[in-house]
Amino acid sequence: MHGFMTPVSLALVALCSALLASAKTMTIVVGGNGTNKDASLIFQPQEVKAAVGDFVVFNFTNGTHSAIESTFAEPCIPAHDSNTTLNGFYSGLRDTVNGSAQTTLVVEIKEEDQNKTFWFYDIWGCGKGGVGAINANDSDWENFDAFVRNAKRLNGSSGGTSSSRTSTGRPTNSQPVPTSTGTGNSAERVGANTVKAISIFTPFLLAMFVA
Ligand SMILES: *[C@@H]1O[C@H](CO)[C@@H](O)[C@H](O)[C@H]1NC(C)=O
Ligand SMILES: *[C@@H]1O[C@H](CO)[C@@H](O)[C@H](O)[C@H]1NC(C)=O
Ligand SMILES: *[C@@H]1O[C@H](CO)[C@@H](O)[C@H](O)[C@H]1NC(C)=O
Ligand SMILES: *[C@@H]1O[C@H](CO)[C@@H](O)[C@H](O)[C@H]1NC(C)=O
Ligand SMILES: *[C@@H]1O[C@H](CO)[C@@H](O)[C@H](O)[C@H]1NC(C)=O
Ligand SMILES: *[C@@H]1O[C@H](CO)[C@@H](O)[C@H](O)[C@H]1NC(C)=O
Ligand SMILES: *[C@@H]1O[C@H](CO)[C@@H](O)[C@H](O)[C@H]1NC(C)=O
Ligand SMILES: *[C@@H]1O[C@H](CO)[C@@H](O)[C@H](O)[C@H]1NC(C)=O
Repeated sequence: MHGFMTPVSLALVALCSALLASAKTMTIVVGGNGTNKDASLIFQPQEVKAAVGDFVVFNFTNGTHSAIESTFAEPCIPAHDSNTTLNGFYSGLRDTVNGSAQTTLVVEIKEEDQNKTFWFYDIWGCGKGGVGAINANDSDWENFDAFVRNAKRLNGSSGGTSSSRTSTGRPTNSQPVPTSTGTGNSAERVGANTVKAISIFTPFLLAMFVA
C-alpha cells in the first residue's frame, strides 16, 4: 500500500465528496408548535422542494401525529388505499409522549421520483389542513393550495358529500386508516437505499486503495 495518494485516487476522492455533498437533508418538524389550535402548523414547513438524492426528514417532536403519503385526489387516504399500485411512505401514528420520545421518518427522493409530487397528511389534522407536499408544482392546477382545499372539502366538517368527491371506484363507507396496507415501512426503504448507495460507492473506494 502506498503511503500517499495518486492523482487518480485524489480525483476519485473529490468526486465522491462532491456527490455526497450534493445530497441535502431537509427537515419537516411534526407537531412542534402546539398543533391542537392550528392544523396548518402540524407540518412545518408544509411544503419543501427536494432534488433527487435528497432526504426529507419528518421529525416528530410533540403530540401524536402521522406522516402518511396520499394522493392529490384523496388527501386523507393512504396512497395505497386509493391506488393499489402506489406504495407510499407511512409513519403510522407516532406518540412523542409529550416530547420525550421523539422519532423521525426519512424519505429519500429517488431517481424515479424526479417528476413526482409527494402529497401527505396527518391522520387527526387532515380535514383541517394538516397536510403537506414535497415538490408540488405551483403552476399546475394540482398545486399545494388546491390540495389543502381538497383535504378540507373531503375530510373537513363540510366534507363527506358525495357530490364533491372524485370518482375512484372506492366504496364511500370505507374503513378508517388501516394499520397495515403493505404500504411499506419507510425505515426499511431507507435502509435498503443506504445499502444501495454504499454499494455504488464501493468501486470508488476500492479503486482508491488499488491506485
Ligand atoms: C414555532 O413558532 C415560532 C413562532 O411563530 C416559530 O419561530 C418557529 O419556527 C416555529 N417552530 C416550528 C417547529 O414550527
Ligand atoms: C407540546 O404541545 C403542547 C400544546 O399542544 C404544549 O402545551 C407543550 O408544551 C408542548 N410540549 C413540548 C415538549 O414542546
Ligand atoms: C428533531 O427535533 C428535536 C427538537 O427540536 C431536535 O433536538 C432534533 O435534533 C431534531 N432531529 C432532527 C433529525 O432534525
Ligand atoms: C394508479 O397509479 C398508477 C401509477 O402512478 C397510475 O398509472 C394510474 O393511472 C393510477 N390509477 C388511478 C385510477 O388513478
Ligand atoms: C401529556 O400531556 C397531557 C396534557 O398536556 C397530559 O394529560 C398527559 O398525562 C401527559 N402525558 C404524559 C405521558 O406525560
Ligand atoms: C422527468 O421529466 C423529464 C422532462 O420531461 C424527462 O426527461 C425525464 O425522463 C423524467 N424523469 C422521470 C424519472 O420520469
Ligand atoms: C408545472 O405545471 C405546469 C402546468 O401544468 C407545466 O407546464 C410545467 O411543466 C410543470 N413544471 C414541472 C417542473 O413539472
Ligand atoms: C377521509 O375521508 C375518507 C372518505 O370519507 C375516509 O375513508 C377517511 O378515513 C378519512 N380520513 C381521515 C384522516 O379522516
